[in-house]
Parts: sequence; C-alpha cells; structure tokens
Amino acid sequence: MRVQIGATAHNFSDPTGLLSDCHRRIEMFLRSLQTVANGEAKLDEEHRRALDLALRYFRESAPKHTADEEESLFPRLQGLKDEELQSALMRVGELERDHREADGLHRRVEELGTAWLEANELGGSELAEFRSAVTRLGNIYPHHIEIEDRILFPAAARALSLEQKAQIAAEMAGRRSVKLTSL
Ligand SMILES: [Fe+2]
Ligand SMILES: [Fe+2]
Repeated sequence: MRVQIGATAHNFSDPTGLLSDCHRRIEMFLRSLQTVANGEAKLDEEHRRALDLALRYFRESAPKHTADEEESLFPRLQGLKDEELQSALMRVGELERDHREADGLHRRVEELGTAWLEANELGGSELAEFRSAVTRLGNIYPHHIEIEDRILFPAAARALSLEQKAQIAAEMAGRRSVKLTSL
C-alpha cells in the first residue's frame, strides 16, 4: 500500500518517511518566505507568487504535519518501552514548544503577508515585523527538523510495530482526505 502526500509517494509502512518529506516542503516554503522577506517592500510578480504559495502551504498543510506528530506519532511513541527511544522522547517537550512558537509566528506572517498581497506593498514597521518573524522561524526550523529527522524518526521507525505504522499512515491520509490504495 502507498500513500501519497504532496509530490512524493512513500510506502505505507514508512510514516516517518512521509513526515520527513513534509520537512523538505517546509524548508522549501520557508526559503520562499525568506526570499520575499529579504526583497523589496513592493512585490514583483515572482515574489507575489512565492508569498502566496508559501502562505497557503503554512496555512493549510503545515498544521496537518504538526497534528501528524502531536496526535499520531508522539503519543504512540510515549507508550513504547524502548530504551533508545526513551532518550529521543526526552526531546518531545522541546519539539512541542517549538510547534507552539512557530504557530504564533506563522499566524503573524499570515496576517502581514495577506495585507502585503492585498496592497502589494508593506509599510516599514510591518515589513520589519514580517522579517523578524521569518528570521525567528528560520532559527527554529533547522534545529527542530534535525532532531526529528536524525534522532526521533529513526528511533520511531525501529520501535513502532507494522500495525502502529499503518495506523499512523492511515490517520495522516485521513487528515488530507487521501485514499490509501493497494498497489
Ligand atoms: Fe515537529
Ligand atoms: Fe516535523
């Protein structure tokens, strides 16, 4: 069975692989926000499009990724008795705090970015605030993603049963109204 989320298809038995794919998209759209933030106050066509797509991704898709982790993955890991996993799980509180801080920053980026798209230009103090929020996101994500990709997900991939992986993948698909199909 396979579930496709975005452009890449991964095996149904590899939900942490799907989550790492989401990280690549987060990185891509964060780079778009950084490019726009570092550009002119007046948007050109390229920056308008980049901003519009990045805002849409962080508004519609990124919250599903957070829910995948906080509602489907972390609680299942916390119930497992695996020594290697226990040390990885010590990082979960930190990851959840990052999620809450990033949520707040994304809400402000969404408000300011929407105003920017509407007026095609952003005032000095709002532009400074947009830049500072994007800079802070750029500080949070690399470390956060590294902990998940390099520590938590590999430990989870080893410790979770096939049935648990299937449940997680099914919940991820459900959040996106994606059908799981047999291949
Ligand atoms: Fe996360
Ligand atoms: Fe993540």
